[in-house]
Amino acid sequence: MSDAYLITGSNELKGTVRVAGSKNAALYAVVASLLTSDEVILHNVPDIADIEELSDILRSLGTLVRRENKSLILQSKTIISTKPPGELVQKLRASFLVVGALLGRVGSAECAAPGGDVIGSRPLDIHLTGFRALGAEIEHDETNWIVSSSSPLSGASIFFDYPSVLATVNVLLAAVLANGVTIIVNAAAEPEVEMVANMLNQMGANISGQGTAHIKISGVHKLHGCDFTIIPDRLEAGTLLLSAIATRGEVLISNAVPEHLSSLTSKLLEMGAEVQMDVQSDDGDTGIHVSGATKLQSVALQAVPYPGFATDLHPPMASALTQVTGVSFIHERVYDNRTLYVSELRKMGAQITLGSSSSVLIEGPSQLRGTRVKALDIRAGAAVVVAALAAEGVTTLEDIFHLDRGYENLAGTLSSIGGKIERV
Ligand code: EPU
Repeated sequence: MSDAYLITGSNELKGTVRVAGSKNAALYAVVASLLTSDEVILHNVPDIADIEELSDILRSLGTLVRRENKSLILQSKTIISTKPPGELVQKLRASFLVVGALLGRVGSAECAAPGGDVIGSRPLDIHLTGFRALGAEIEHDETNWIVSSSSPLSGASIFFDYPSVLATVNVLLAAVLANGVTIIVNAAAEPEVEMVANMLNQMGANISGQGTAHIKISGVHKLHGCDFTIIPDRLEAGTLLLSAIATRGEVLISNAVPEHLSSLTSKLLEMGAEVQMDVQSDDGDTGIHVSGATKLQSVALQAVPYPGFATDLHPPMASALTQVTGVSFIHERVYDNRTLYVSELRKMGAQITLGSSSSVLIEGPSQLRGTRVKALDIRAGAAVVVAALAAEGVTTLEDIFHLDRGYENLAGTLSSIGGKIERV
């Protein structure tokens, strides 16, 4: 049997905890290293399964990858393959980013459809539209997308039907070394996208507008190595803030960036929680301090692209809302299958019902009870952890390999602020 967490609930979380480097931003940065033959040094890289899997994908393409504590050192002197192994590609969605990077670096790539959480239909049309606009030809055999260009890629004006995060990064990676100027209109504005554009600029790219819906990429001939630090993980920080709220605890999340979390903190304030930004911690960093010891009220929210409420925080937010007074409403507008966690929370006694078009209604407060449940995807797993911390008795959480994909040593992190959680 695979590992499980045993979580004993009803302990208020208290203390200071430091947030790790961002999973998604680190994944994009690792792939960006493919664009230069020089060494790329990344700091603050979380020690999680997705980074391991992606490192193996890069190794199959010819990259030397080694970890030194929190740093990852990558060098892609020569690209020895443009076809990552399908069984690795299917382990995570970010694997498809190698297509943009290989197209930019050597003009072709052959890649299976990526895997990742089963949280919705997750098509690739926007990625492919972007590659085509830059002059690539696209074919599909039984298993692979074959993307290639016989002449150098040329900059283009591209309108995205939807501000897809990975499609924005994929087109960025393909366009930085293209001839001329590329404009992406309706680009994703997520901090992780902004960060990878900043990293590419440090490598010699000429990108502006990152962090907005309108990104301009002026192609350059060559990129060089860099020494770059990954931003803190706003989704881990959000999960910890919500764990504090659900247990009526009081926690300082050090190193969290307030601006990246304003959609969550504004909802926490609306619920009646005490939230303070830029609080100094003992280690000299600043962070977000939250207290859920006050009377908390229900709220309504929608999960939408950044800077709106993050879809990845919808499931743990739902768990926290089981502990507040009144009927809360969450409308999921990013994915059509984000609500897998609902069945698991119901087993624990949550009053939560599925409405139409991916919406959920949560009636609180409910006394949750520990039982045997599963992590059904990364964030559905996070939802159950938050619920279990608030519940009476012991929760056995199975299939925690999903959580290992995205949270660095979650049991250690929560234990350091008083959570009773043990890996078995
Ligand atoms: N979409 C399309 N066509 C496309 C691409 C996306 O219709 O070509 C649709 C999807 O079906 C979905 C919506 O656009 O309904 C949003 O998808 P998006 O492409 O923005 O998501 P993603 O780039 O595949 C990344 C993160 C997700 C996070 C989303 C939204 C990585 C590896 N994944 O996925 O993170 O939920 O952005 O912020 O960066 C997680 O960390 O647990 C996770 C799932």
